[in-house]
Amino acid sequence: MCGIVGYVGAQPAAPILVEGLTRLEHRGYDSAGVAVLGPSGLKVAKRAGRVRDLADGLPKRFGGKVGVGHTRWATHGAANDVNAHPHSDASRTVSIVHNGIIDNAAALRHRLTEDGVELVSDTDSEVVAHLVARSTADTLEGKVSEALAAIEGTYGLAVLHADFPDRIVAARNGSPLIIGVGDREMFVASDLAAIVRHTTTVAHLDDGEIASVTATGFTTYRQDLTSTAKSAVQLDVDPSSYDAGEHESFMRKEMHEQPAAAERALRGRLDERFGTAHLGGLNMDARETRAIRRVKILGCGSAYYVGQMGAGLVEELARIPADAEAASEFRYRNPVIEPDTLYVAVSQSGETIDTLLAVEEIRRKGGRVVGLVNVVGSAIARACDGGIYLHAGPEIAVASTKALTNMFLGFALLALQLGRVRDLSIADGRRLIAGLDRLPAQIEEVLAQEDTLAVLAKRLAEAESLFFVGRVRGFPVAREGAQKFKEISYRHAEAYQTSELKHGPLALICEQVPTVAIVPADELTDRNVGALHEIAARGGPLVVVTHEDVDLGDLTAHADLQRVDVPRNERELDPILLTIPLQLLAYHAALHLGHDIDKPRNLAKSVTVE
Ligand code: AGP
Repeated sequence: MCGIVGYVGAQPAAPILVEGLTRLEHRGYDSAGVAVLGPSGLKVAKRAGRVRDLADGLPKRFGGKVGVGHTRWATHGAANDVNAHPHSDASRTVSIVHNGIIDNAAALRHRLTEDGVELVSDTDSEVVAHLVARSTADTLEGKVSEALAAIEGTYGLAVLHADFPDRIVAARNGSPLIIGVGDREMFVASDLAAIVRHTTTVAHLDDGEIASVTATGFTTYRQDLTSTAKSAVQLDVDPSSYDAGEHESFMRKEMHEQPAAAERALRGRLDERFGTAHLGGLNMDARETRAIRRVKILGCGSAYYVGQMGAGLVEELARIPADAEAASEFRYRNPVIEPDTLYVAVSQSGETIDTLLAVEEIRRKGGRVVGLVNVVGSAIARACDGGIYLHAGPEIAVASTKALTNMFLGFALLALQLGRVRDLSIADGRRLIAGLDRLPAQIEEVLAQEDTLAVLAKRLAEAESLFFVGRVRGFPVAREGAQKFKEISYRHAEAYQTSELKHGPLALICEQVPTVAIVPADELTDRNVGALHEIAARGGPLVVVTHEDVDLGDLTAHADLQRVDVPRNERELDPILLTIPLQLLAYHAALHLGHDIDKPRNLAKSVTVE
């Protein structure tokens, strides 16, 4: 949510900043801006719209070898030119870019206004520029430190000052920031994607840290300016994994990466001999694992829906009561934290503030939390007692696909390990391991149906409103399918338990309202098919996502029924294979409707504000 990039070195900064912003755009894309420090002082260019609009409108003379850039997802104030970052003081001595929320912005605005300062934007961030400009400290580090002492809230911050033209001063509290080390050039970024083409040697700032960055190095401090002596590390990442390659969008690339991503999630974690999983990162021995009496999963959006799939896996395989809850609601109901409950925080980005705050609430009350997180070293990963990295690789599209698949696999591994220290038999453990081994190839089989699903998707895209329905294992699948569909097609898609249709929503079923029904081959197939008859009888078009051997009986005579078959695996693993066609349906509906698939309206990849 919002992206920051900064450069200090020997090259013209503006092109590097604009390229970095382009690679950060998934984090926020309603306005963008850059500021550079050149021989004639500080120059700022910013505007509402996409980074390409900013690039097209950049003045010819925009030289400077130090600069900062920002791409915004509006929180305080509309998405317009004035509210875009960077923000500056009236004399254009200071320019800042900020991610996060300044909680006491209203009080600070009031104080500054009383002191005669004219604030020009509606943002919370602008106060930081004025506070830095008004500081009487001798150094930029001192000015920033003084400004931060007045601020309450979260920030990833990068500051330029015309009197200190050789440096950027950056600070972090609750919003990620890294320093990239190049050859006589240095970078600041909120996300590795912005700088990965220049360097993969980075230092992660911790909350409460300030960094002073010049072309030749960086120094880190606590807020009182005592040194924290931090050094950079070389990350093991392939820069090309941040490119869409031959794919027309990141979402399509990431959907098709799922078989390989799934293999990575499972690699080295399956123990055939004992029919169990090895998850060393959980930091729990067998005795502690056995002592768990309940599992509570917390995540937001799609991560929450996969969490519901995960809760099902834990109950089925380990017979431990488990449920999932929206992390955004959790801490506001003063939750009871139990010592023998294992809390699981699930997040692709590892930055989602609602999930992070839930983790902090649990730990504050003495609970144990493990993370299922994709981004290594992210805030949630670091806040947990242990965890399972997802190994999905960088996920750029706002609509999450491969990370969700790997979350499901993470839950399967966790459930297997919990089950095998309890009553799950070795034979069942091995049965699950064999099923997990088959999954990557079966995901590939579903992806191979893309052309057929594209045709179905075009029809669904014509409807203004749709239902996604499923029962028990199929219900979180339906929820995730509806989420993906609405997220990128902007069609109203509502998920319901199939069993609940007749208690209300059946009133909406008609020829104009299609239903995507999840009907696995399981103990509920007949009941599911019965409910589909009720939809068919009311003329509702049906897309049935099912298994090859499910007999839909008389329903096949229904004029408007399309069937999508996915391969059979072990029934506990059904949800993930049933989810893959729903990704393709959403993708092709959005493509047909001409939407920007990777950057859906009003959304951003990481939600780092409450
Ligand atoms: C998924 O397609 C969505 N973009 C969204 O619901 C997402 O899953 C949610 O915001 C949580 O993000 P996280 O996994 O990074 O915590």
